[in-house]
Amino acid sequence: MRSTNIFAFTLVVPFVAATSYDIVKAYAGTTFFDDWTFYNHYDNLTNGDTIFVSAADAAADQLAYVDSTTNHAIIKVDNTSTVPYNQKRNTVRIFSNDRYGVGSVWVADMYHLPYGCSVWPACEIDTLEGVNLQTINQMGLHTLPGCTIVGANDLSTSTQTSTDCSYLANDNQGCLVMDNNPASYGAGFAAAGGGVWVTEFASTGISIWFFPRANVPSSISSNSSSIDTSTLGTPSGNWPSTNCSMSQYFDAQNLILDITLCGGKSPSPSYFAGNAAIFNETCTGVCYTDYVMGNGSNYATAYFEIASIRVYSSDGTNNIIPGSSSNGTATSSGGGAASTGKSAAETINGSIAALVASVVVGGVALLLA
Ligand SMILES: *[C@@H]1O[C@H](CO)[C@@H](O)[C@H](O)[C@H]1NC(C)=O
Ligand SMILES: *[C@@H]1O[C@H](CO)[C@@H](O)[C@H](O)[C@H]1NC(C)=O
Ligand SMILES: *[C@@H]1O[C@H](CO)[C@@H](O)[C@H](O)[C@H]1NC(C)=O
Ligand SMILES: *[C@@H]1O[C@H](CO)[C@@H](O)[C@H](O)[C@H]1NC(C)=O
Ligand SMILES: *[C@@H]1O[C@H](CO)[C@@H](O)[C@H](O)[C@H]1NC(C)=O
Ligand SMILES: *[C@@H]1O[C@H](CO)[C@@H](O)[C@H](O)[C@H]1NC(C)=O
Ligand SMILES: *[C@@H]1O[C@H](CO)[C@@H](O)[C@H](O)[C@H]1NC(C)=O
Ligand SMILES: *[C@@H]1O[C@H](CO)[C@@H](O)[C@H](O)[C@H]1NC(C)=O
Repeated sequence: MRSTNIFAFTLVVPFVAATSYDIVKAYAGTTFFDDWTFYNHYDNLTNGDTIFVSAADAAADQLAYVDSTTNHAIIKVDNTSTVPYNQKRNTVRIFSNDRYGVGSVWVADMYHLPYGCSVWPACEIDTLEGVNLQTINQMGLHTLPGCTIVGANDLSTSTQTSTDCSYLANDNQGCLVMDNNPASYGAGFAAAGGGVWVTEFASTGISIWFFPRANVPSSISSNSSSIDTSTLGTPSGNWPSTNCSMSQYFDAQNLILDITLCGGKSPSPSYFAGNAAIFNETCTGVCYTDYVMGNGSNYATAYFEIASIRVYSSDGTNNIIPGSSSNGTATSSGGGAASTGKSAAETINGSIAALVASVVVGGVALLLA
């Protein structure tokens, strides 16, 4: 039967995404490292001059541990070993065993981020992507071709610097937003007592808020069991789904924390810490020989100090894809190339973001910046 509806507007029911999420997981305190996999392989993802150690080595060498005084998790670069020419420096890359789908929010409370010449940390989904001594935080997405950012929020405290998220565009630069707050990275971040990132992965798009320690909303600092993102104000970064379907371009996400040194060498995107032109924007000398090599005195600030990472969901545990709990190696699923890769199109879909392209290095030969 055909009906005439004079109240045409009643047919238009806009889809409203959830803004309220309940906690499903907390990585914090003495159990912080319990549900991650250590990469346990040299950096064949971003071509850094680094070896991502096993859980056992990270514990033995105090590269990943929970500080007994603060109860904060520390993830750091080895700054006590002397590295001879043509060898790599030990550091850490971990990825969560579980993956979290559309309808998730991550709240990362940190006191210190790794920085220093040659240092390139990542907390993927590219919530933070700093490099060398850069003083502001860059946030970005990298996807298969076809995802462009249209109609982002007016970002009063940040600047959208590119809108094409495709890994094929602009050397896989990604669709980037620079947070103009100097407290969002590096020495300024640590001096301000760190802060909290809130990342919302919703069907309507991705949003990132950054709150320096002094401005963390009480709903977050109280470790509330739920979070309502509609109360958080204008995000620092916003990537609406208008011209980029979340379910089409983004798989469930591993959380990844890593620190690499130099890296990002061509043939794939040749920007970031190891690229000479970027390196000497903030540092002097040559990335590998003047920093990675030698006694490690450059790396006293190359560490994460993390109070907690909490995961919230709009759909209970249905958003979670559980992974096996293991102290596995790079060959286990999730968080290997699958969640970092920019080297092959099929791996891009596996992550909201990664850093620059994965570069497949033949053997362990160093490629110097
Ligand atoms: C939307 O994305 C397509 C690629 O899938 C692109 O060709 C088009 O220009 C985009 N539209 C806008 C308004 O950016
Ligand atoms: C929040 O949780 C963190 C770690 O899980 C803890 O150190 C802190 O004391 C908690 N804060 C409150 C207000 O409960
Ligand atoms: C990306 O992953 C989603 C979810 O697994 C899938 O539905 C979609 O087809 C994939 N997109 C591409 C381009 O592979
Ligand atoms: C950066 O380093 C490269 C390679 O060493 C050099 O050619 C270039 O002149 C340097 N640029 C600046 C601005 O120092
Ligand atoms: C470490 O190396 C740097 C640079 O070569 C040097 O200035 C410093 O004195 C060395 N530190 C120690 C403790 O040997
Ligand atoms: C190594 O780094 C830590 C901070 O992570 C710092 O406290 C320590 O002094 C550094 N050690 C050396 C030898 O530079
Ligand atoms: C993983 O390694 C950590 C640190 O060495 C250890 O405490 C934990 O029990 C290990 N977990 C598994 C599942 O082997
Ligand atoms: C890195 O090495 C691991 C272990 O050999 C391998 O499984 C993985 O495919 C490699 N990743 C890349 C991008 O080459």
